[in-house]
Amino acid sequence: MIILRTINDVSRYVSEQKGRGASVGLVPTMGALHAGHISLVEKAVSENDVTVVSVFVNPTQFNNPDDLASYPRKEEDDFKLLASAGASAVFAPSVEEVYPGGPSAQPQHVFDLGMAAEVMEGKYRPGHFQGVAQIVSKLFRIVNPDRAYFGEKDFQQIAVIRNMIKSEGINVDIVACPIKRADDGLALSSRNALLSPEQRKVAPEIHAALKDSVEYSLSHSVRATHDSVVERINAVPHLEVEYFEIVDARTLATIDEWDESPWVVGCITVYCGKVRLIDNIAYRLPKD
Ligand code: PAF
Repeated sequence: MIILRTINDVSRYVSEQKGRGASVGLVPTMGALHAGHISLVEKAVSENDVTVVSVFVNPTQFNNPDDLASYPRKEEDDFKLLASAGASAVFAPSVEEVYPGGPSAQPQHVFDLGMAAEVMEGKYRPGHFQGVAQIVSKLFRIVNPDRAYFGEKDFQQIAVIRNMIKSEGINVDIVACPIKRADDGLALSSRNALLSPEQRKVAPEIHAALKDSVEYSLSHSVRATHDSVVERINAVPHLEVEYFEIVDARTLATIDEWDESPWVVGCITVYCGKVRLIDNIAYRLPKD
């Protein structure tokens, strides 16, 4: 596995690979890698001749400076994990390399991300998805991948990225990969490393509440299901729901009745102490 630090180096590497007919998969990450990321890398390795993994904590998608400062960084461990997962190259640039002169010196471009970017994370983290679109579109233009891999824990992010490639005219297959969980059900996240032992003990209650609510939803209304999840999680010490929305998975618009959409997902964000955890669950899935 080669480690590339500059845009020129990664562009040259990808052009050489494409020149010899190789297909290229890209796995964008912010590092502090866990088994969820590694499952994306392994899938990319199995589907492409060459897999490039980017490791870059993108400052423009953080609306809270403390969150950016405390985001875990473990570059050496990440590189070892990526090498053993079979990645061909890692692109780990500096902030100056990606945003010469600093993030605020960049040309202003407002991405058309549709309604999917306005709700849930879009509402609670203003500017977050513009920052995600800024870095992901840059990576797509630099690496020019055939396929790009994203985890379904960030369900809304995938919808927003699909809208972004449409509005920007970028041609890439977006591959959505299932959530990886710890044995106790907690969705794997780089932020889990920030939990205290006590917080880590209660955090699985988020998935437990969501999972049990699927059964409950078969005999209860959308509103009752929503409220039962929020009440159960808020009753757990250290946990506080920021939002829980039951949405049409195609548009991310909230639904009032189960039969409004064939594909219904519940998306949740919960503060566990100061750590913001997200998760989601499917209530209804399309038949095919
Ligand atoms: O999901 C993430 O880790 C980030 O939002 C991404 C896609 C790597 C962009 O910085």
